[in-house]
Amino acid sequence: MVNTNNWTPFLFVVLFLASCKSDKNTEKSMSQKTNLAYYTEPYRPQFHFSPETMWMNDPNGMVYNKGVYHLFYQYHPDSTIWGPMHWGHATSTDLLHWQHKPIALYPDENGFIFSGSAVLDKQNSSGFGTDDNPPLVAIFTYHDAKSKASGDSGFETQGIAYSLDNGDSWTKYEGNPVIGDENSTDFRDPKVFWYEPDQKWIMSLVAGDHAQFHGSKNLKDWELLGEFGKEKGAHGGVWECPDLIPFKIEGTDEEKWVLLISINPGAPNGGSGTQYFIGNFDGKTFTTDQTEDRWIDWGTDNYAGVTFSNTPEDETIFMGWMSNWQYANETPTESWRGATTLPRKLTLERVGKGYGLFNYPIEKVDGLISERSTKAMNIAIGDGQSISADSLMQSEVRFMTSSNDFQLKFGNGADEQLVLTMKSDGNEFTLDRSRSGKTDFKEAFGNTLQQMPVPDLPKGEYEVRIFMDRSSIEIFLNKGQYVMTAQVFPNAEYNALEIVNTSDTALEFKEFSHGAVKGVW
Ligand code: FRU
Repeated sequence: MVNTNNWTPFLFVVLFLASCKSDKNTEKSMSQKTNLAYYTEPYRPQFHFSPETMWMNDPNGMVYNKGVYHLFYQYHPDSTIWGPMHWGHATSTDLLHWQHKPIALYPDENGFIFSGSAVLDKQNSSGFGTDDNPPLVAIFTYHDAKSKASGDSGFETQGIAYSLDNGDSWTKYEGNPVIGDENSTDFRDPKVFWYEPDQKWIMSLVAGDHAQFHGSKNLKDWELLGEFGKEKGAHGGVWECPDLIPFKIEGTDEEKWVLLISINPGAPNGGSGTQYFIGNFDGKTFTTDQTEDRWIDWGTDNYAGVTFSNTPEDETIFMGWMSNWQYANETPTESWRGATTLPRKLTLERVGKGYGLFNYPIEKVDGLISERSTKAMNIAIGDGQSISADSLMQSEVRFMTSSNDFQLKFGNGADEQLVLTMKSDGNEFTLDRSRSGKTDFKEAFGNTLQQMPVPDLPKGEYEVRIFMDRSSIEIFLNKGQYVMTAQVFPNAEYNALEIVNTSDTALEFKEFSHGAVKGVW
């Protein structure tokens, strides 16, 4: 056996020399340590995207190319609060495991880089690439903060940039900006797609209280084609982040168009939210006979969501920003702030005589869930059942039921509770986070009972599926027909789920399961 004592002086010298290494190396190991720390911060999402450090808001420029999904996002590299916007960048091959990339777009003399989209210019219509190497083109808003501060209008314009190396480096077009409007104030968030019938690019853009549609053959020269919405939908705040998407109604060949519009404030449960319209697009403008307001998600924390461009098999995949401008800058995280929702597949489905836009986690999310063992659960009138686990903070809960009267209470030893209630009286589902943990960082966070009307839920059995990821909960009823997303900041991990029968019959849950969801970082 080696006598380790003999090694002591030698080890001492090695350790001493190691400690004298250059600052650069020390910095490197420091930053590696910092990187490791983000896996363990109490509120850090484990199976959602969040930036390595600092502030993020809207997802931007989501596009698929050569096996890679690109996520760009509104990013402030110098602070955990909103500021001069850049486009942060991350890539993934499965939409779940992300790799952080260097910042893609920096502010320049035209302004900060606000939200926008990216497309693969397959035919090299822009001339930025070649036929053999078609460019990725980003289309974004320039926000000139100085011009805004001096009281001018016209401070938001649209710019473009291109990449010839699948998103690794970007060159801004020297002819920027490509669209301006001297009279407008909120004029932003271009979302572009290729419109096959007219062989041209269509851009949806918002201008204060309405959407505009612009057309272009080359992504550089644009003309205004149509406008929509001054008299339609919710108008409690400014319109933001439009997305115009064609759908085949599930199971048919019938085509309909959906226009997503984020609005802030004016969402049904306060602050920021995303409404949608179902209608038609004729190459110039969007029309709808919809009279009611519709929301893609009724929770407080799914905003500015749009869909990926150029996805395999034309799947429509959506991601939103899991926050709300009412308190986004104050949430109690430390080295980072902001995350995306799970990637969700959008489908347009027949519901009664009309249609509904469903959003539900992409199938690949199933691969993160540890084996489910399902059981039937019967709870007598006036009774409850409690399930305890080491932690429910990184979990999926799923069951089938035909009941419309029950409560689910996520709780911890600190006497905190997040309460979900399904009530047949009033046909609604509610989320109460008033006693869920930290709420006092901003009054608006805890003081509203979040309500979701569920009038068209199937009369028979339907699925309830819930994901909790450290500081968020996503609830999907009937495979995405009704959805709620909310942030939550408990002081101790939720480790008990109480199921309460609030009906006057026995409560039956079929195939009940709860299990851990694997981390992706
Ligand atoms: C939406 C939004 C966009 C804007 C961006 C600025 O959350 O306000 O309209 O482009 O954020 O960061």
